[in-house]
Amino acid sequence: RITVKELAEILLTPEDIARRVQELGAEITRDYQGKELVVIGILKGALPFMADLIRQIKVPLRYDLMAVSSYGDSTRTSGAVQILKDIEMGLEDQHVLVVEDIIDTGLTLKYLVSNLQARCPASLKICTLLDKPSRREVDIHPDYNGFVIPDHFVVGYGLDYAERFRELPMIGILKPEVYTGK
Ligand code: PRP
Ligand code: MN
Ligand code: MG
Repeated sequence: RITVKELAEILLTPEDIARRVQELGAEITRDYQGKELVVIGILKGALPFMADLIRQIKVPLRYDLMAVSSYGDSTRTSGAVQILKDIEMGLEDQHVLVVEDIIDTGLTLKYLVSNLQARCPASLKICTLLDKPSRREVDIHPDYNGFVIPDHFVVGYGLDYAERFRELPMIGILKPEVYTGK
């Protein structure tokens, strides 16, 4: 078992994550029976989750990636959402599932949902691995959620602090001294 010195606590082990991703995949498979899916992963944070989730969804799917950023190298959101890379496929009459690693203030997804809705999909749902409802600033609710978590700065499994820690197989709480520099 690996230890990471910057983590104060491990919130979710690789096994916790794998089990829940399997459950989410099974739930999504049931809900989309007889349909085809378009899965849209939101870079960069959603990459590990999306990669694992698509292999647990047993209906035919296509996936694409979108890059949106609002956080920069800070632990707090600026609220300004920017599309850095758009998807390449059209969404008209498609069943679309947006995959995120975390919903925090909700600003990223609020923007994305209205942007994608304008492309006239047959349906549009949200799947997030983590939900931090205590931080919500806009009204947005995931259709599929892995874990509700308390208000701590978490990293790992795609989640970063200043681009670091995304590669960790677990999700942990970052020691405050890492971002306060003390
Ligand atoms: C993070 C995270 C979500 C978003 C959630 O992305 O991956 O996409 O913030 O925050 P919100 O609900 O307050 O909008 P970030 O902008 O840090 O980009 P990244 O995925 O490249 O790390
Ligand atoms: Mn993100
Ligand atoms: Mg980030």
